[in-house]
Amino acid sequence: MKTVLSGIKPTGTLTLGNYLGALKRFPTFQNDHHSYIFIADLHALTLPIDPKILKDNAISIAAFYLAAGLDPNKSTIFLQSQVSAHAELNAILQNFIYMGELSRMTQFKDKVTSLNESAIGLGLFSYPVLMASDILLYNADIVPVGDDQIQHIELTRDLVKRFNHRYGDILKMPKAELNKVGSRIMSFSDPTKKMSKSDPKGNIDLNEPSASVKKKIMSAVTDSGNTIYFNPEEKPGISNLLTILASIRGLSIPEVELLVKDFSYGQFKTLVSDEVVALLTDLQSKYNQIIQSGYVFDVLEKGKKKAELIANATLNEVKKAIGLW
Ligand code: AQP
Repeated sequence: MKTVLSGIKPTGTLTLGNYLGALKRFPTFQNDHHSYIFIADLHALTLPIDPKILKDNAISIAAFYLAAGLDPNKSTIFLQSQVSAHAELNAILQNFIYMGELSRMTQFKDKVTSLNESAIGLGLFSYPVLMASDILLYNADIVPVGDDQIQHIELTRDLVKRFNHRYGDILKMPKAELNKVGSRIMSFSDPTKKMSKSDPKGNIDLNEPSASVKKKIMSAVTDSGNTIYFNPEEKPGISNLLTILASIRGLSIPEVELLVKDFSYGQFKTLVSDEVVALLTDLQSKYNQIIQSGYVFDVLEKGKKKAELIANATLNEVKKAIGLW
């Protein structure tokens, strides 16, 4: 049986982009894979964050994992910071990735454009090393991600080649798995930019009230034309809405293009808005029940124990191979 691993960092409330690009797919693996799904709270420290907000976000993500259909009896759900092997492997693997490689990472370059150099922490620069440690500790074969993470997985693969060439066949080679549709949901306020937790104007948060969801979709930036077809260069806003509709309905892009070909932009936006509201209403009702039950804490405790077993075993193998006690 293959192993799947993925995680989301608790830097804010989850967005529709996180859901369609990542979370929606997580439960699809758990019946026929070893499934490790974590909350990447160490990764959330790369930019300043209030401690209480960080904790609340982490619990909220765990509850959304369950609301989206992850079953703790089939998937190991845990907090990254509670399994110390992540930090320890990170310290080791830092020596196997080079500054030049890290400085080529697009996500790093994008994030630092808005920061003064004295505010860029080392952790932001070395983020892909910790991400590689997360993946490699669980011998993951498959890492389901949105397309913004592909470059980091490629770097992990380079690291595995480099490490195994030197020490033998110790680390498992992972592979990224992208969604056919929805691997990059764009911002509603600027459809040339990825939808992010850190951009409340352009995103929809999974806990957002229906009225606000409707307002954001109805006023989503689109071009001034009146024909609906998929072309992200010419029509980024319309293409984004087509992607969202296709992803929610489980259709291909040509199928949704056909569905809405005679719609006006207004009718099309209304349809997308209704679909998103229906999706979120269902998710929010499950989420609220889970939060009220307090069940999340038991799930994370059980997950930590299961995750530690495999993570510590891999870490020990690595340490033995490189000459550490
Ligand atoms: N807009 C998106 N479209 C598709 N997939 C997305 N993902 C994130 N945004 C989109 C996918 O969600 C998973 C978890 O991402 P993350 O939160 O750990 O990191 P991120 O990509 O940096 O997310 P944000 O929302 O942009 O966070 P901030 O604003 O804090 O930087 C990943 O699989 C990612 O591909």
